[in-house]
Amino acid sequence: MARKYIMAGNWKMYKTIAEAKEFISQIIPLVEKSSHKVYLAVPFTAIQSAVKKAEGSSVVIGAQNMNDASEGAFTGEIAAQMLKDAGAQFVILGHSERRAIFGEDDGYINKKVKKALSDGLQPILCIGETLEQREAGETNDVLKKQLQGSLEGVDAAAMSNIVVAYEPVWAIGTGKTATPEMAQEAHAYIRGCIAKMWDAKVAKALIIQYGGSVKPANVKELMSQDDIDGALVGGAALDQESFAAIVNF
Ligand code: PGA
Repeated sequence: MARKYIMAGNWKMYKTIAEAKEFISQIIPLVEKSSHKVYLAVPFTAIQSAVKKAEGSSVVIGAQNMNDASEGAFTGEIAAQMLKDAGAQFVILGHSERRAIFGEDDGYINKKVKKALSDGLQPILCIGETLEQREAGETNDVLKKQLQGSLEGVDAAAMSNIVVAYEPVWAIGTGKTATPEMAQEAHAYIRGCIAKMWDAKVAKALIIQYGGSVKPANVKELMSQDDIDGALVGGAALDQESFAAIVNF
C-alpha cells in the first residue's frame, strides 16, 4: 500500500487561542480537497479550541511536547492524558529545540514515545544531525543512534503508529534546506535502519517526514523523492496561504 503523505505544521510558541481559531477556519476550505493528511501541532492553550474549530474537517490537531509520567508533582509539565482530554491526536517528540534547549536525550525521548503510544497519542519522533556532525561525516551514525535510542523496546505493531521526522538541525528556521538529494539519502538511510531494527514491512510502511525550512517553493521537489512522505513545517506553517500551498503541493 502506498504511504499517505502527512503534511504537518508545528507552530512552536506562536499564536493565541483567537489566532489559532482564525487560522483553522481559514485553512479548512483551502485544504479540504487535498489527498494528504493535514496535521497542526498547536500550543497547549489552543488545543481544545483548535479541536473544536477543526471538527468535521480533515485537519488533525496535536501537541508539541509532553511528559513521560501519567501524573505527579512535575510543575509546568503536561501529561499524555491531559493532551488527549483536550482532543489532541498526536504529539511531536524529540524536536531538536527540545533536545538542544531543554536537554532532552534519546533515553528520555524513548520514555515519552512509549508513553504516547500506550496512551493513544501518535508520536512524531524528530531526529537530525547538526552542521558540525554533518561536516564531520557523522550524519548516519547520529541518525542511527537517535533511532535506536528513541525507539528502543517499541514493538513492530506499535511502529505502524509512529511517524519519524528527519530534520537536519542546520536547516531548521535558517532558510537553508537540504537539497532533495541530500534529504532522500538521509531518508533512505533511516528506512534502512528501521528495516534492520524491525523488518522490511515495518520500514516500508513508515511515514518519514522531512523538516527544515520547507516552503511553498521547495516542497514539491522534496516530496517527489522516493522516501520522503510528508513535511514538518515551522515558519511557513504560521501563515494560512503558505501552509495551504505546502499541503497542496
Ligand atoms: P522551519 O521549522 O520550517 O521553520 O525550519 C521546522 C521545524 O522546526 O519543525
